[in-house]
Amino acid sequence: MNTSLRWFRRIGFLGIALNFSFIVPALAMPDMYATALGLSSSVYSDLWLRNAGALLLALTLFYLPGTLHPGRWPWLAWMNVGSRLLSAGFWFWLVRTSPLGPNLKPMLAMDGSLGVLLGICLQCGLPSEHRASFAWFARGFHALGAGIRAGWGHPGTKVTLVALILAVGVLGYRTWYDLLKTYPEVAYASDEDHFKYGAIGLSQDSRVPYYLWEILPEVFKDKLPAGRPSGWAAFGLIQEPQKPVAADLYGPLGIKATQGPILPVGFALRRIGFPSVEPNCAMCHTGTYRAAAENDPVVVVGGPAHALGLQAFQQFLFSCAADPRFNSVTLLAAIGAKEKLGWYEKLLYRVIIIPAARSGLLTQQAAFTWQQSRPPQGWGRTDTFNPTKINVFHLPDDGTIGTTNLPAIWNQRARENLWLHWDGNNDQITQRNYAAAMAVGATPESVLPASFKRVTDYVLDLPPPKYPFDIDAAKADRGKVLYQQNCAECHAFGEKKVGQVTDISEIGTDRHRLDSFTQALVDRFHTFTTAPFIFTAYRKTNGYSDVPIDGCWYRAPYLHHGAVPTLWDLLQPPASRPAVFYTGYDVYDPVKAGFVHDGPARTGGFRFDVAVAGNGNSGHTFGTTLPDADKWDLIEYLKTL
Ligand code: HEC
Ligand code: HEC
Repeated sequence: MNTSLRWFRRIGFLGIALNFSFIVPALAMPDMYATALGLSSSVYSDLWLRNAGALLLALTLFYLPGTLHPGRWPWLAWMNVGSRLLSAGFWFWLVRTSPLGPNLKPMLAMDGSLGVLLGICLQCGLPSEHRASFAWFARGFHALGAGIRAGWGHPGTKVTLVALILAVGVLGYRTWYDLLKTYPEVAYASDEDHFKYGAIGLSQDSRVPYYLWEILPEVFKDKLPAGRPSGWAAFGLIQEPQKPVAADLYGPLGIKATQGPILPVGFALRRIGFPSVEPNCAMCHTGTYRAAAENDPVVVVGGPAHALGLQAFQQFLFSCAADPRFNSVTLLAAIGAKEKLGWYEKLLYRVIIIPAARSGLLTQQAAFTWQQSRPPQGWGRTDTFNPTKINVFHLPDDGTIGTTNLPAIWNQRARENLWLHWDGNNDQITQRNYAAAMAVGATPESVLPASFKRVTDYVLDLPPPKYPFDIDAAKADRGKVLYQQNCAECHAFGEKKVGQVTDISEIGTDRHRLDSFTQALVDRFHTFTTAPFIFTAYRKTNGYSDVPIDGCWYRAPYLHHGAVPTLWDLLQPPASRPAVFYTGYDVYDPVKAGFVHDGPARTGGFRFDVAVAGNGNSGHTFGTTLPDADKWDLIEYLKTL
């Protein structure tokens, strides 16, 4: 036996010994062992762990002959290598997809390195006819061909071959049909419905299989935020009573929409192979208000989704995926109670769609761990540019906090060529629109140009919502004068400063959002030139934009990060503005002009504390020294904008 084969033998026995370091504890004390691995007993029962131990013991017996005499039994020796590499592949998959993945890395390292080392020893030590080579595969095919030729005279061979080809064809077609076939997009008659429910074309990673969408809030009820409505509405997603109306719209998708209201505003139903849902612009740019708690919510299209819990929604999906109940058996049982799936469809859900959804979500969860080091965003807010910085462009995490209010996007035509985004970093509406699409998960390949254009054309002339309560005309007239004197130069369309940046030293508001948008990110945006995603207009500024304040009454809570709950509070000196208030409640307070932010707003509301980093309520002291009577007049006028 030569040196290489002796090494093969030594490493082989080391591997066998290592196997026993799993087999013995798995058989003898599975509970302790599971705890050491970080596996809760709900994930793996002792019985299954023992079972794995016994199987590995049986497998290890087959390692023995090849390990003892690789020269005599080269095929068995090669089987050892194959078996190690196969296990390594399995560990790799678990490490990537399982929440417990990191605990399994030692197994991956062990089987992977044993497989490689054993393979090298065999390749060096065996005589040439037993080494791995392309000739192996060539021989394999040759043997197959020879077998078929030899058996050709026998009718059974032909029948078997034809049956095989047919089976592969049928299964291939079904798989294509269930996973990849594209269906036409749902055609909504009105632009408004298209805005609320139409797809702009996101990539596969940003879609959730529809049948999962239907059941997740039920199966994982316990994970929904407390004190909020049930189902997806728990995250502030808006469920219109009868929308999307016409079930026959879904006819072309081959979906029987028999389940009543199925989609909240801001989500589109599509079918590529299987039905799935994806968010659109309305998720973040449509809100509601109520005149009183007992009223039905009124939907404000194009307005900030001030009650949307984007972070909570994302965390819910991640937490579902990481839960042991996110498995094909549990989820298919829940789906079965609502939908009739064929056996092959079920099989695809079991082996492909559900596992892929799970691993997709867990991959996103890992990519978003940076968010845990930032203060919670709460309702109606999100971190705008850090996801692009860290997750899309892979720039280093600089620890900045970029949390902002979701803005209104009506009246876009009047905003052409204004420097917008809260820090005034881009003056091109097409670029702002495409940047938004990219941020939600569209790629240059996935975006549906006609559909996207219909959305962005719609918001060009979408008017802001009219103030829905009474306005005292005499007060508003007096307020108009005050507005002209104190505010218009920065906030009225057509004025020179509107859509320009006021330096941070002058505006004095919280600077975290400003600092989170960096020159490095500007440079990276400029190099992204895959049409139609071109972002050449970005620049780094040193302040916040003098934003047009059309629809002012509905933009509450105010400022780029929502740190001031009402217009009345915005007109107070910072020290007199509320230091703690509650967001996410949509009953409107027509006196102070903003959403009710205490009392009933506490239930399920987000406790907004201005002492938290990124939440500061300083600055923008314009109008704060006016007499109270003037402030009330000014507010009355602001309601008319
Ligand atoms: C995940 C939530 C989200 C979605 C979905 C979303 N946006 Fe936005 N959008 C934002 C946030 C947050 C900002 C504010 C960015 C900033 O300046 O920090 C913004 C800003 C904008 C602006 C600039 C507004 C201004 O005046 O400064 C436009 C225009 C816009 N979005 C259009 C769109 C379009 C079109 C879509 C659909 C393709 C879309 N958005 C989807 C969150 C979203
Ligand atoms: C020198 C320019 C300037 C003047 C004058 C000015 N503002 Fe502003 N305003 C800004 C800037 C800049 C912001 C954005 C600051 C931020 O979000 O951090 C802003 C934000 C606002 C917002 C919040 C908009 C939103 O969507 O949340 C309101 C409301 C507002 N201003 C009202 C007023 C009123 C009322 C006056 C007059 C009493 C006034 N402003 C005077 C520059 C100005």
